[in-house]
Amino acid sequence: MKLKLAVLPGDGIGPEIMEQGLAVTEAICKKFGHELSYKYAICGADAIDKVGDPFPEETFQTCMEADAVLFASVGDPKYDNNPNSKVRPEQGLLAMRKKLGLFANIRPVTTFDCLVHKSPLKDEVVKGADFICIRELTGGMYFGQKKEPATNENGVEDAFDTNYYSRPEVERILHVAYQYARQRRNHVTVVDKANVLASSRLWRKVAQEVMKQYPDVTTDFMYVDNASMRMIQDPRFFDVMVTENTFGDILTDEGSCITGSMGLLPSASTGEHTPVFEPIHGSWPQGKGLNIANPLAQILSVAMLFEYFGLKAEGALVREAVDESLAQNVRTPEIQVEGGAKYGTKEVGGQWIVDYINKK
Ligand code: IPM
Ligand code: MN
Repeated sequence: MKLKLAVLPGDGIGPEIMEQGLAVTEAICKKFGHELSYKYAICGADAIDKVGDPFPEETFQTCMEADAVLFASVGDPKYDNNPNSKVRPEQGLLAMRKKLGLFANIRPVTTFDCLVHKSPLKDEVVKGADFICIRELTGGMYFGQKKEPATNENGVEDAFDTNYYSRPEVERILHVAYQYARQRRNHVTVVDKANVLASSRLWRKVAQEVMKQYPDVTTDFMYVDNASMRMIQDPRFFDVMVTENTFGDILTDEGSCITGSMGLLPSASTGEHTPVFEPIHGSWPQGKGLNIANPLAQILSVAMLFEYFGLKAEGALVREAVDESLAQNVRTPEIQVEGGAKYGTKEVGGQWIVDYINKK
């Protein structure tokens, strides 16, 4: 196929891992005869520095014209501890989600057998855990009506965020979850806080209707506090978890750490316009330029990208190359075995994994 990508490296380690992700994309396209073209675009702190906007119009247009966006990470410490800064890199990410209508964030929590010892959980608890979290991404408190901290009419400083959801927003994300469940183990867990929150009661009401359209899928409902506990006690319980934006944000960080390395987890965000594929980890500014960042999450995001377009063999070859690199201890420092050889971002990605693909 013809594949036109928008490439958004962003900040911190973003550009380095993107280079590896792109090298892998090129190798796969060459091997399978796909015609690849791509265009770089700026976002995050990089774009604030250059044009004063973390998701400039030109970047948006580049995304809209592409078949898919390959995104790395945004964020810079100079904005982190300043609640007064008018513009911050994360706003670029939120703008991208909203403008591209990316309402479904798919975050797989996959464990790698050879890395389970890195998990804070016991091997026997985490081994074989394999689920995906479908996080609603364009609604809830992130985008509901807000009041920034300011003194109110009673002379008290206050602030609020509104956890707004409408029925269509809930319906469409539930359908995404059920579609995924049908490709997997036919089990959906709807995570909410329906015992307290009105918005959650809407979720539960809608889910109880939508589930009837999928009689082949088992549905269960779990309060978010209970789900966060179950995830560490018995992560193998889950197959497809679906939840609102804020709960999903929190639960997916929890999910990523139980696998042992955040540097290995990719994600996809899909919706109304161009889909986006990105690692779930952040921009890790301390690691920038040191050639130590793990490129695997970015590379696995490329696998998700191919799979999104139905290119299964392409995705499978990327995954095979990643598995093989781990098996042969071609690993970045944070997951390398004791006494193992030293490999950096480039050596793992653009070199070893690309070589593996070329030789196949
Ligand atoms: C994520 C991140 C973002 C979020 C931040 C950077 C705005 O934590 O993608 O999970 O909260 O959604
Ligand atoms: Mn998050």
